[in-house]
Amino acid sequence: MRINTIFSVTVMPKVYAFGNKGDLVSRSKKDLQQFKEKTLGSILIMGRKTYESMGSKDLPGRKSIVVSSKSEINSLDKALEEAKRIGSDNNTCFVIGGVSLISEGMKRNLFNDIYLTMFLGSQYVAYDVAFGREFLDYLESGYEPMHKDADLSNSEERTINGIEGEGSVNYLHFSKKVTLSSSS
Ligand SMILES: NC(=O)c1ccc[n+]([C@@H]2O[C@H](COP(=O)([O-])OP(=O)(O)OC[C@H]3O[C@@H](n4cnc5c(N)ncnc54)[C@H](OP(=O)(O)O)[C@@H]3O)[C@@H](O)[C@H]2O)c1
Repeated sequence: MRINTIFSVTVMPKVYAFGNKGDLVSRSKKDLQQFKEKTLGSILIMGRKTYESMGSKDLPGRKSIVVSSKSEINSLDKALEEAKRIGSDNNTCFVIGGVSLISEGMKRNLFNDIYLTMFLGSQYVAYDVAFGREFLDYLESGYEPMHKDADLSNSEERTINGIEGEGSVNYLHFSKKVTLSSSS
C-alpha cells in the first residue's frame, strides 16, 4: 500500500502553525480542492483530535482510521496494519494529521509522497499546535521536491485565523528519496 501525507502549515518565524482550537489555521480554495482530489478513494489515517475536528465522521468517498490511546488502534503502525487489512480501491492511504503522526511518519521515512501547502507572509497567527524546525530537517533528509505549483510571487485569496485576505501560498510535492544500493 502507498503511504502518503497531505497537510498545510502557516509559516511563522520559528514554527509552522498547524491547528488552532480544533480548526485549521489557514485555508484556501485551492488547498481544499487539492485535498479532495488527492485523497478521494483513499483511506485517511488521523489522530483523535483531527477526527473530532471533522465532526467525528468520515469524509465522503474516504474511510477513516482513527488513532487513540483508548482504542485498539493506539499507534501509527496499528493504523497502517488496519489500512492494509481493509484496503482501498487505489491501494493508498494518507496520514492527514495531527502533528505527532505526521512527524513520526516523516522521521521514519514512511511516506511515498508528501503534499505540503505552505501559507506564507503572515504577520501574527494564533495557533495551539505546530511543527518545530525539525520538520524541515526530516523533509530535507528523507525527501526530494518534485515540483512547485506556485512561486513566491503568486498571491491568492486565503483565510488565516478566519480573516480573509490575499497572500502567497505554495503547493509543494515531495517524494521519498531513492537510495541506490551499490552493486559492485
Ligand atoms: N493543517 C492541517 O493540514 C491540519 C490537518 C489536520 C488537522 N489539523 C488541525 O490540527 C488539530 C489537531 O491535531 P493535533 O496534532 O492537535 O491532534 P491529533 O494528532 O489529531 O490528535 C491527538 C490525539 O490522537 C491520538 N494519538 C495521536 N498520535 C497517537 C499515537 N502515536 N498513539 C496513540 N494515540 C495517538 C491521541 O488520542 P487520545 O487522547 O484519545 O489517546 C491524541 O491525544 C486541529 O486543530 C485540526 O483542525 C490541521
